[in-house]
Order: sequence, then structure tokens, then C-alpha cells
Amino acid sequence: MVGLPARGKTYISQKVCRYLTWLGINTKVFNVGNYRRKLHGAHLPHTFFDPHNTLGEQQRREAAAAALEDMIRWFNEDQGIVAIYDATNSTMARRRWLCDKLGKEDIQVLFIESICQDEELILANIKDVKLSSPDYADTDPDEAAIDFMARIDHYKEQYETITEPELTYIKLINVGSQNVINMIQGYLESRIVYYLMNLHIAPRKIYFSRHGESQYNLLGKIGGDSALSERGRMYADKLPELIKTNLGDQPLTVWTSTLKRTIETSQNLNYPKLQWKALDELDAGVCDGMTYEEIEQKYPEDFANRDEDKFNYRYRGGESYRDVVLRLEPIIMELERHENILIIGHQAILRCIYAYFMNYKHEDLPYIKIPLHTVIELTPKAYGSEEKRFKVDIDAVDTHRPKLKKSASIRKLGALNLGASGEIVKEPMSPIIPISPNLFPKTPSKKEPSTLQLGEAALPP
Ligand code: SIN
Repeated sequence: MVGLPARGKTYISQKVCRYLTWLGINTKVFNVGNYRRKLHGAHLPHTFFDPHNTLGEQQRREAAAAALEDMIRWFNEDQGIVAIYDATNSTMARRRWLCDKLGKEDIQVLFIESICQDEELILANIKDVKLSSPDYADTDPDEAAIDFMARIDHYKEQYETITEPELTYIKLINVGSQNVINMIQGYLESRIVYYLMNLHIAPRKIYFSRHGESQYNLLGKIGGDSALSERGRMYADKLPELIKTNLGDQPLTVWTSTLKRTIETSQNLNYPKLQWKALDELDAGVCDGMTYEEIEQKYPEDFANRDEDKFNYRYRGGESYRDVVLRLEPIIMELERHENILIIGHQAILRCIYAYFMNYKHEDLPYIKIPLHTVIELTPKAYGSEEKRFKVDIDAVDTHRPKLKKSASIRKLGALNLGASGEIVKEPMSPIIPISPNLFPKTPSKKEPSTLQLGEAALPP
């Protein structure tokens, strides 16, 4: 990251981290401010950040070096693919130091610079985020704001926007009103850049609802394209009032899949609507239209495999949750671009999208509870989303299958018969999107974790 304090660097770092992690790319943020607090304590006055304060300068360089050392160790020992170095990196000398250090480790560098000239936005960021930081615990908010502004002024004294022609970078100017990109190469960098270009910070709400209870839900069957049950239609009748109560007269767009049950659920909603094939339910292949009991009887290996690794298990002739994440990636991009959206979807699909916003691990994703006849409201905030759930008072069947302890069906079968019918994706730990082989994680090195040596040579300029 590059940018003055309060330019949204941590927000961007967290978002990119969440997006890449959702795509199965091992990603971690290293925040230099946290290292500075750990090494030198919180509650440091703005004078600590004055470039003419020799001790402060030395201590800030130590924090930067400590974070970088840890980051390099993480790449080497924890099979990291993308690390986000969340710091100001606001001088050419600092960026050169970073490139030298990382170049020696064969780590590619993409700089993301955030420039914001909108004073109101900066002030809002300071109030929303910075004043609740441990740096200002128990400090009067007005005093804290004055101190933080003085800190920014110290950084401004030395700030050099990126102009180095040889660097790979994207400059985000005034939250998406202008973007400058330079020397972007390869699929992964392009995805990150495209993602950043879609981000906005306008307040908005995202609603999720499964379709109303369907005929197939009543029969316990999965997949298919059945119509709503009578209770499902009652839910569809109630939905407009619930949305209106929570959203008022604000604009909203409704997204559905191309399947009958979501379209019928949306029919009374008087908003612009869009049907997405990408939102269709996870394809259960040969098991489509069967009940779980029928699957267990007819394809016991499938049943066992699915319980063993539900995220990576692909139905024969169908899909896995992992496949669904890949097909939902354009939906995530569109969701980031848009303001208020209501998605009327399916259980597996909403689990994947919800996991993106709420940062769920892949192994837990297939077990997220998304009950019928319930609206989930997410309000994106600085570093996460706030959630509310509204249950509509119309009964529906429960389609949630809890995670089994150590799969009972596996024990029944004895050995696990991979690939007999449906199968677990071969390399469950590999990224979901295709990335260049030279970005694949390094094999963990055997060396002992080194203690940090902060010699002068290790320190940044
Ligand atoms: C900090 O100490 O809060 C940030 C350090 C920096 O990157 O300038």
C-alpha cells in the first residue's frame, strides 16, 4: 500500500485480503502500525511521526523492518501467495527499499496507492476509524482529531506520489473517480486491479433471501426447477412489505436466478429485476431431483465423499461449492459496483456470497445457516459487515444438514472410495482462479524461525 494516513489503505487491504482468500488464495495483511504499537507502545503523540524526530524515525523504521521480516517468513514458511504490506510507504526511498528486499526473495510487488483530496471524506474516515484505534484509547475525540491531523501533516512533508516508471502500480484517486495503472502483468494482478476499480464506499445495504419454500423442499428433494409451495407463495406476498419497512423509499435492484422458485418469489417486488444464470443453484448432477436418503442408498460413496469434504466435493456430472465460487466471482464484482441489492437465491449460492462478506473459511462455508423465509440484511462498514436477520412468520421446512462428526457414512463404508462416482477435487488447497505457476506457494523451508535482527542494514531508509 502507498498513501497518507486516513486514505483508506487498511480498508482496501482488508477488502483485497477477503476477496483473494475467498478465491482460495492464501493472503495475509501485515499492518506496520500494529508492529509499531507492539514494539514502541500505543499513545504516541504526533511528534513521534515528525520526520525531524530522529528517535521516532529510527523506531518507525524498526517497525517497518519487523513487519517485512515477518511477511517474508510467512511467504517462505506458511505457503503464502499474496501478502499485503499495509503502511504509508510514502517516499521513493522506502519503495526502493521494499523492492530490493522483496526482489531478493523473488516476490513480485504491486503498489496500490490511495489518493484522496476530499477533506470531508478524510475527516469522516478519521472519525469513523482512526479515533477508535488503540492509538487514541481514552483520548478526548477532539484532541485526538487534532493530533491525527498533525500526524498527517508530518507525512505530507515527505510524501512523494508514485511516479517511478519501472514500478507496477495502481493509483486510486478520489475513490474511483480516476485510476492510473502502470506495468500491470498477469492474471492475478489484473484481477486485483479490476476488483479495486469496482470498489466504492457509498453507504448501502445488501439483502439475501432464499426463494420461498418450494414443492421440492416439501418433498425433501434437491435441485430441480419446481414452483413454490403454498407457504412459499405466502412468503412472496410478505416480502415487499418487509423490504419497504427496512429500506424505505431508497432505490433497490432485485437479482434472481433463472429458476422458477426465485422468479416467483420476486414477483410482487416493484423494483428493477435482473435474472442471472450464475445465480442458479449448485448443480447436483446425477443426484438432481433426489432426496438425501435416496442419494445415500444409490450412491453411498458420493454421500460419504461429500460429508468428508463438502466444499471440494463435486457431484458426478455436477458441481462442487468450489466450482460455484468460481462462477460467482463476476457476481461479487457486480455486487461491489452496485448500491442496494436484494438477491433472491438458493441455499448453496447464498452461502458462497455470504461467506465472501462475512469472511468464512471454505471448510465452514457449506454449513452456513441460510434458512427459508428469512431475510438477511448486510450493511458494509469500515472493516466488515453488520448483519440483521428478519424471520417472516410463515413456517417452512428446514433444509440445513449439520456437519457430521467423523462421517457416519464413511465409517459404514470403511475405506473412502475417492472418484467412484462424485469426487473430491484433487488439489483442494490450490487457488480457485488460475494463477501463474510461479506464484504457487513455496515449499515450507525447514529452517528454525529466526529471531528478529534489527541491524542498521535491515532497516528501511
Ligand atoms: C504507523 O506507524 O501507524 C504507520 C507507519 C507507516 O507506515 O508510516
